[in-house]
Order: sequence, then structure tokens, then C-alpha cells
Amino acid sequence: MKAMRDAMKSLAAMANGKAAFDRAAVGVAANAIREKSGAAMMQLFPEGSTQHPSEALPKIWTDWPGFEFGAKTLEMRTGQLTAAEEPAALKKALGEVAGVCKDCHNRFRSR
Ligand code: HEC
Repeated sequence: MKAMRDAMKSLAAMANGKAAFDRAAVGVAANAIREKSGAAMMQLFPEGSTQHPSEALPKIWTDWPGFEFGAKTLEMRTGQLTAAEEPAALKKALGEVAGVCKDCHNRFRSR
């Protein structure tokens, strides 16, 4: 999750003109998110892992299809990041990706 946050930060800097737009760098960041989403993300949450200090809500396991949907949607949306050819398109794609992060956190994270 922390790697995803860092990737989102570097993408936001490029989308907002705070860093030079560089498609190779966009690809690297999008990949970092993709690698941590989908099936890889689901593996991070084996049933019962709330026993460890964690902000993960038990709802993850009672609504596994909802969680799986979020993880897979995130994986899919990273494709829109890679497809962005200029900052405005990146900004739009980034907004959609951030929406997926937020939606899942609202439902499955305790704070
Ligand atoms: C399918 C659900 C889901 C999606 C999608 C998701 N997250 Fe999370 N995220 C969680 C859960 C659950 C936690 C709490 C994990 C814990 O405490 O064990 C979390 C925690 C975090 C944390 C807290 C630090 C940490 O490592 O625990 C950060 C930062 C974070 N997510 C960033 C992101 C970003 C950025 C995205 C989008 C690119 C994203 N997340 C997408 C479910 C999700």
C-alpha cells in the first residue's frame, strides 16, 4: 500500500505540472500500482489477518466479492494511466484511480 501511495504521488506531480511529464516514469509508477493490486492485493489479506495490528476491517472477509472487485478494478484502471499521453489525460485517469483507492478504504479500512 505504501508503494502505491508513493506511485500516486509521483503521478500526481506529473499530472499537476510539478514534475516533467514523462511517459516512461508514468509506466513505472502505473506498474508499481498494478503489481500490488488484483490477485496480489487479495493475497495480502488472508482470512483472520485482523489479529495483527491492522486497519483492515473484518468486512473484507464477509464481503470478499466486494473486496475482490475493488482490487481487480484497481488493476484494470492502471491501464488508463499507462495510456495517458499528456498531463490532462493523466490527471483524469489519476482521479479515477484515486476514486477506486478511496472507495475501498471507505468500505474496508477502519480509518
Ligand atoms: C480493494 C481494496 C483496496 C484498494 C483498491 C486500495 N486499498 Fe489501500 N488499503 C486497503 C486496506 C484494507 C487497508 C488497511 C490495511 C491494514 O491496515 O492492514 C489499506 C491501507 C492503505 C494505506 C495505509 C498504509 C498501509 O500500508 O497499511 C495506504 C497508504 C494505502 N492503503 C494506499 C492505497 C492507494 C494509494 C490505493 C490506490 C492506488 C489503495 N490503497 C487502494 C484496501 C485497499
